[in-house]
Amino acid sequence: MSTPLNLLVFAGSTRGKSFNRQLATAAAAHAGRAGARVTHLELADFDLPLYNADLEARGTPAAAIRLKELFHAHPAWLIASPEYNGSYTGLLKNTIDWVSSPVKGDPLWSSGTKPFAGKVVGLMSASPGAMGGLRSLSHLTPLLLNLKCWVAPEQFALSRAGEAFDPDGQLSSEAARKGLHSVVDQVLWAGQRLLP
Ligand SMILES: Cc1cc2nc3c(=O)[nH]c(=O)nc-3n(C[C@H](O)[C@H](O)[C@H](O)COP(=O)(O)O)c2cc1C
Repeated sequence: MSTPLNLLVFAGSTRGKSFNRQLATAAAAHAGRAGARVTHLELADFDLPLYNADLEARGTPAAAIRLKELFHAHPAWLIASPEYNGSYTGLLKNTIDWVSSPVKGDPLWSSGTKPFAGKVVGLMSASPGAMGGLRSLSHLTPLLLNLKCWVAPEQFALSRAGEAFDPDGQLSSEAARKGLHSVVDQVLWAGQRLLP
């Protein structure tokens, strides 16, 4: 990789032993080996209330501004999305809602799409179920497109996630590693071509 790509990696779960965090970590390790400059974002570190426009009218929370800055600063992202009831998590939606909401009176953040527009985004999911959380990605994709992200066509859903990782956090199966790497590699490839 000529110029290292700044890559933001995060999971849509705050669970201690989150499979999606494990998957995000494996993806980040592969991206790092390929030359990307990786930032791990842990959503549990951000004290973000449930989105409420009346609350927002009293001032956008500092955590939302910090997330806007982080999202904006990284031209490419990898998101590992759990599946709840056939869709992505409320945590992920709440985060995206805050980050996409314009900040009144702040010209820096007057555009809601600013932190999202033009980002190259790779999507993956992990679930104990047979479909690997794939349906969460089919909902997350149009949401991100609506916010003007470039969503990578390669996506990866890890099924039977409880048995998929070895004690070192590596994916045990070659097929799973290949699936994960195909998303990461495509994001790095597109990132190099689409970004200034
Ligand atoms: C409210 C709720 C709904 C769920 N719905 C689904 C589902 O539709 N499909 C699925 O594969 N797993 C579903 N699960 C199981 C999650 O995939 C599982 O809890 C997974 O470990 C969450 O991801 P994480 O390990 O990254 O936290 C659901 C879990 C919860 C709590």
